[in-house]
Amino acid sequence: MVITIDGPAGAGKSTVAKRLAKKLDVAFMDTGAMYRALTVKALRLKINLEDAQALTGLAAKTVIDLCNEAGKPLKVIMDGEDVSEAIRSLDVTNNTFYIARTSGVRHVMVDHQRRMGQQQSMVGDGRDLGTVVFPKAEYKFYLDADFKVRCKRRVDELRAKGQVVDEEALAKDLAERDHQDMSRTVGPLKQADDAVHIDSTAMSIDQVVDFIASRVRLT
Ligand code: DC
Repeated sequence: MVITIDGPAGAGKSTVAKRLAKKLDVAFMDTGAMYRALTVKALRLKINLEDAQALTGLAAKTVIDLCNEAGKPLKVIMDGEDVSEAIRSLDVTNNTFYIARTSGVRHVMVDHQRRMGQQQSMVGDGRDLGTVVFPKAEYKFYLDADFKVRCKRRVDELRAKGQVVDEEALAKDLAERDHQDMSRTVGPLKQADDAVHIDSTAMSIDQVVDFIASRVRLT
């Protein structure tokens, strides 16, 4: 069984997907983390981020694993190294779009994601899961929220981690990421025709999780 949750940054997808996976006792697949992990490697190796061929070659020889262990946060392992923290840096966040817009990279990622989906039941979150990766998924959701609310959630999240946040800059970055995600030619952010649209503007994370869980009949 595959449940897909797509939507823009800051809509709460990862938190919802993580909690839902726990509730249903299935794996959690954070596909954004996979694109981020490859970005970490490309930045370290100082690969030209405009060079699609080099990025595709890099993707083909990089092993990215998502490690689900009961009761523990998801671990992102790149070539055997735990990069779970490194993938959350601002530099990585700002550069992942170069990786994500490269069609050769997306092919490698999509293949890998499909293999993971064949091996186990899971909740996956991303941008193209319902449209490209798992077009036949049993349950598809598109999670959205007002732009201002998405900004506020990101600000609160970063402040809770003790980071100093420039709200205006964050809003600009988020708008830019929305544009990049929706306008790329391969795997753009788009609601699948058969996905259930959820506007989480006035909903808590638990309400969203309960709503999705109530729609999912475990087989
Ligand atoms: O969900 P996130 O913010 O961790 O995603 C990081 C980046 O990866 C974001 O720029 C969008 C991109 N992404 C993508 O293109 N396709 C996915 N399935 C998931 C994420």
